[in-house]
Amino acid sequence: MSTPVLPTIGMCSDHAGYELKNKIKAMLTGKGYKVMDFGTDSEDSCDYPDFAHPCAKAVESGECALGIAMCGTGNGISMTLNKHQGIRAALCWAPELAKLAKEHNNANILVLPARFIDPEVALKTVEVYLDTPFEGGRHERRIAKIPV
Ligand code: RB5
Repeated sequence: MSTPVLPTIGMCSDHAGYELKNKIKAMLTGKGYKVMDFGTDSEDSCDYPDFAHPCAKAVESGECALGIAMCGTGNGISMTLNKHQGIRAALCWAPELAKLAKEHNNANILVLPARFIDPEVALKTVEVYLDTPFEGGRHERRIAKIPV
């Protein structure tokens, strides 16, 4: 029996999300996901768009199937990611939100508020996000109307 190929996940954060990004990356690689880490690479103060744009482009192009992003609040990085037409980045702080973000919105990037979420809750939120399928149907029509 062949082992299922897990999707490649793009990750990005600023300094505020750096530690959480590493925790999530360790969990994902431990499960067998391939992770492309677009930075940042330390806790030195930096600007989230410098890492969000390359990550968004990789998800838009299909180089990464999905993305996981974080900054302190999750807001700045969400705003940046969602400037890309092909990105549906959803800020989620609980597994239930991540489940609905995938089921209803087919969010292709999960965003976490690193300074406002318990790391264990963040890990669970990532697992639920990755394990939940898009429902399609009426939601397909709605998400088709999002790009401007
Ligand atoms: C960094 O201090 C903080 O502003 C950033 O991580 C984020 O919360 C911005 O939206």
